[in-house]
Amino acid sequence: MDELARAIERANRLYYLEDAPELDDAEYDALFRELQSLEERHPALASPASPTRRVGAPPADGFAQAPHRGPMLSLDNAMDTDALRAFDERVRRMLGREATALDYVCEPKLDGAGVELVYEEGRLVQGLTRGDGRVGEDVTVALRHVWSVPLALDASARPAPPVASVRGEIVLPRERFQRLNRHREDEGLEPFVNPRNAAAGSLRQLHDVDVRRLRSLEFRAYHLAEGVPPGATTQWEILEALRAWGFVVSPESTRCAGIDAVVAAHEALLARRDALPVEADGSVVKVDRLGLQDELGSLSRSPRWAIAVKFPPQQAQTTVLAIDVQVGRTGALTPVAKVEPVFVGGVTVSNVSLHNQDEIDRKDVRVGDVVVIQRAGDVIPQLVRVLPERRARRLARFRLPDACPACGGAAVRLEDEVVTRCTNPDCPAQLKNRITHLAARDALDVDGLGEEIVDQLVDKGIVTRVSDVFALDAPTLEALDRMGAKSAANLVASLERSRATTLARLLVALGIRHVGTTIAELLARRFGDLDPLAAATADELEAIDGVGPTIAASVARYFADARHRAEVDRLVELGVRWEKEAPRAAAADGLLAGRTFVLTGALSIPRDEAKARIEAAGGRVTGSVSKKTHFVVVGEDPGSKAAKAAELGVAVLDEAGLERVLREGPPPEPPSDDDALEPKRKAKGKAKGKAKAGAKKEAGAEDAGERAGDEDADASPA
Ligand code: IVH
Repeated sequence: MDELARAIERANRLYYLEDAPELDDAEYDALFRELQSLEERHPALASPASPTRRVGAPPADGFAQAPHRGPMLSLDNAMDTDALRAFDERVRRMLGREATALDYVCEPKLDGAGVELVYEEGRLVQGLTRGDGRVGEDVTVALRHVWSVPLALDASARPAPPVASVRGEIVLPRERFQRLNRHREDEGLEPFVNPRNAAAGSLRQLHDVDVRRLRSLEFRAYHLAEGVPPGATTQWEILEALRAWGFVVSPESTRCAGIDAVVAAHEALLARRDALPVEADGSVVKVDRLGLQDELGSLSRSPRWAIAVKFPPQQAQTTVLAIDVQVGRTGALTPVAKVEPVFVGGVTVSNVSLHNQDEIDRKDVRVGDVVVIQRAGDVIPQLVRVLPERRARRLARFRLPDACPACGGAAVRLEDEVVTRCTNPDCPAQLKNRITHLAARDALDVDGLGEEIVDQLVDKGIVTRVSDVFALDAPTLEALDRMGAKSAANLVASLERSRATTLARLLVALGIRHVGTTIAELLARRFGDLDPLAAATADELEAIDGVGPTIAASVARYFADARHRAEVDRLVELGVRWEKEAPRAAAADGLLAGRTFVLTGALSIPRDEAKARIEAAGGRVTGSVSKKTHFVVVGEDPGSKAAKAAELGVAVLDEAGLERVLREGPPPEPPSDDDALEPKRKAKGKAKGKAKAGAKKEAGAEDAGERAGDEDADASPA
């Protein structure tokens, strides 16, 4: 049985990791079946780490959450090599080693999904996504399908520790990513935008778990949070131990003596970035000696002994061939530059969003211009600037049309908006986007309702209103182009699953302007069911903490429209249902009831999330600091609000302080105004010379919620 297991593991490795299979499918199947039948006959001899166990039951509905063994920290960023040298100086100063060079390990910063694998007595017992860094989603079952996740540590060269917490990244090698997308396109499915999304998405598949997709993932280990083998004193030795236990460790990792060698390693990696088998968006530089790492310690968000150096965004020049206008779900017209296809940042770019008329005017983009575009580590390519010196002849300025390019309806720009919108409620382009929005993951999560299918449904007149989607049956779907009986049956099944939903998801699905997930959840909690929400006046809505006048007006306006109510009724008739709950008033008994917070600067968690957590504990988040504010939470690069807090004597929390208050509640009120405020005031924050989120419009928290819900004001090209 051991022999069979080894032969199968070897075949798996050759097939999935090295793309060099030695066995054909029939030979492989024969080995697999033989092992399976031996295990059935001799269950006592079956190893829990047998390759047959890789094929488990698909994960149950939703993922269980579980805490990490220790926080999964993120990394501080250095924008360039100067900042990297500054990091080295800082580290040596803190260690009192100004005079000596330090050893570092320089590794690729993998662009995938971070996970923690927990091994007990050498056996994989749990795999978690990063989640919020403290609590992740239990994706053990999915991870068991990933060949490079050892089910058992190979203890032949090095003994396995009683408990090991191995951190690393789930990535999808570029070539397999391309193969996966070709396959998806053949099946009429939406291709993934990049390997990171594909990797994260594959790991979190809930329905129709696609084992082939999971098997094409790769786990690369880079950190051992627990279980350091006796005798290992450096990160380099840890990487060696991880390799010995059977993990894939980035072969591009190097050990560097002194910062000059680190800079050289980083630059060498940068030069090879496009040739790497997996995507990396920078280097991670770690102090090699574990003893020094301990001495340096960690901040709440990131260790002091490591730093990420991002690669600069890749830029390229190309020519604007045309400017198309796309119509979004709310009718917003988005100008999109069609450019001469150009390879940048790992993808071929042929469309770049120009966002709106003001952007076009600001950059003065005209058809025929030579432009610089860039694609940073993330997905969306940007147009950086026009090269006016390359503008050979006079080119016409571009203006958004007065008529919707999809339906010819009037397109207008309201005075206080940057967006021009099509005003025709029956516009087919809007309908298509509303359907796609309804099917999105945060909304009703209809698997398999891709753009191509939606286009056909609308163009053929099969669907003329969003609710028609739930009237679709298999024969109708089968009649569509490139739709087989199996895909049609799958789509019917996923529609059936989506019918049972929650009120919050339904509210997102309806596409009410300014209502994103956060607001939808808030409304669902307060009202418990749809009818009382639909009956609420704008004033009643505005009385809810977290709902500002814009949201309140938008929700009231939505339900005042008889066509909208008819749509909702029809959805219900067609089987869409949700569990009604008793409405919950503002959490008057929460730990933070009656406390008001203002958030400023960049936090390590999204603002919406911080806000939602404060509200869940009964607190309130407002946009501006006043005497009534109880706490100002200061992230990186705080704005003027931190200074205002100091001026007014309002308590200031850093992120760790916020976590403490969320956990333990606010400290007791000081007896009088003159007494020192707790927790300790710290008005300055730790300003880093980095113009990031803090520099963005210091919008009130309410505003931020609205922006999150507002879809296509800033639409990116489809
Ligand atoms: S070490 C305590 N090494 O980047 C240090 N992280 O921005 C733990 N990442 O959350 C992280 N490549 O998901 C480390 N070679 C590497 C990495 C890496 C990618 C990710 C990781 C982390 C994020 C931080």
